[in-house]
Amino acid sequence: MDSSKIFIVGAKGQLGLALQAQYPDAKNADIDELDITDQNSVENFDWSGLEIILNAAAYTNVDGAETPEGRVAAWRVNADAVANLGAVAAQKDMTLVHISTDYVFDGTQSPHPENEPFSPLSVYGASKAAGDIAVSLLPKFYILRTSWVIGEGKNFVRTMLELGKKGINPTVVADQIGRLTFTSELVNAIDHLLTTTYNLPPTGALAPYGTYNVSNDGDSVSWAEITRAIFKQAGYGLTVTDTTTDEYYAGKPGIAPRPLQSTLDLSKLQGTGFASRDWRDDLSDYIKKELSL
Ligand SMILES: NC(=O)c1ccc[n+]([C@@H]2O[C@H](COP(=O)([O-])OP(=O)(O)OC[C@H]3O[C@@H](n4cnc5c(N)ncnc54)[C@H](OP(=O)(O)O)[C@@H]3O)[C@@H](O)[C@H]2O)c1
Repeated sequence: MDSSKIFIVGAKGQLGLALQAQYPDAKNADIDELDITDQNSVENFDWSGLEIILNAAAYTNVDGAETPEGRVAAWRVNADAVANLGAVAAQKDMTLVHISTDYVFDGTQSPHPENEPFSPLSVYGASKAAGDIAVSLLPKFYILRTSWVIGEGKNFVRTMLELGKKGINPTVVADQIGRLTFTSELVNAIDHLLTTTYNLPPTGALAPYGTYNVSNDGDSVSWAEITRAIFKQAGYGLTVTDTTTDEYYAGKPGIAPRPLQSTLDLSKLQGTGFASRDWRDDLSDYIKKELSL
């Protein structure tokens, strides 16, 4: 597809970097060039020639969002700013592609279907749910709801590889269950949805506008199990001790509540012809690349 019609917002984040690699001709900006919380800047931005906004920007500090300053920042970026992008998308007949999270749910149901009612436990989750509602009112939108994102940036796999290199035997939470989502999987899904939409007449589109769950496929496991898979692949003969979320965070004030069940039902996206990759295959590729650096 013609990537010069695409604009990537939040281009320096984990997903933003992966989107830039996929769409090298796309226009892009991070907060230093376009602060999406600034309604005037969004309205006065040069949108000429653009048809698709890929919003990879977000306030993603889940625990930071529980502080008085973080609460305001999370709502500004994850809700107000998304409404700013939505307004301009509607006005200029652009498609808005937005990223949501399993944190909009309380994690009591598994797997999560796209239409599960919102039940956020944390400020971050509530602010993201508000953003989803704003986007869902648009005529042309895709919301990709995802979980446990791994790409270029600070993330769980990199943290565990660092511990492994230092020979540390970690204690890891074993009661939060889900699947990793590599940014490559998110980019593939976005490209799939946009390609099916833009290559076919609207009536024949395979993937109508709406909300789609996207994570890697494969078995649903705990963070402790993922750590074991990381250490095995990296060749670290270390021991991972299971703990519970409550034990892990005991005595640490200001920690946001986390959903215990994060697995997303992928059948809607797969029903459009998308072939999901197993998280263990992408983890293996990711670790090979990390260890060769
Ligand atoms: N990471 C996960 O595990 C996870 C899980 C589920 C869903 N998600 C969702 O997936 C999406 C991508 O996440 P990610 O991990 O790639 O996030 P990320 O690495 O934190 O990147 C977010 C980017 O947005 C930028 N940004 C923040 N405020 C902005 C503003 N006002 N205007 C413009 N840009 C702004 C950030 O800049 P600064 O760094 O300068 O603030 C950063 O470059 C987000 O919607 C997130 O909610 C993530």
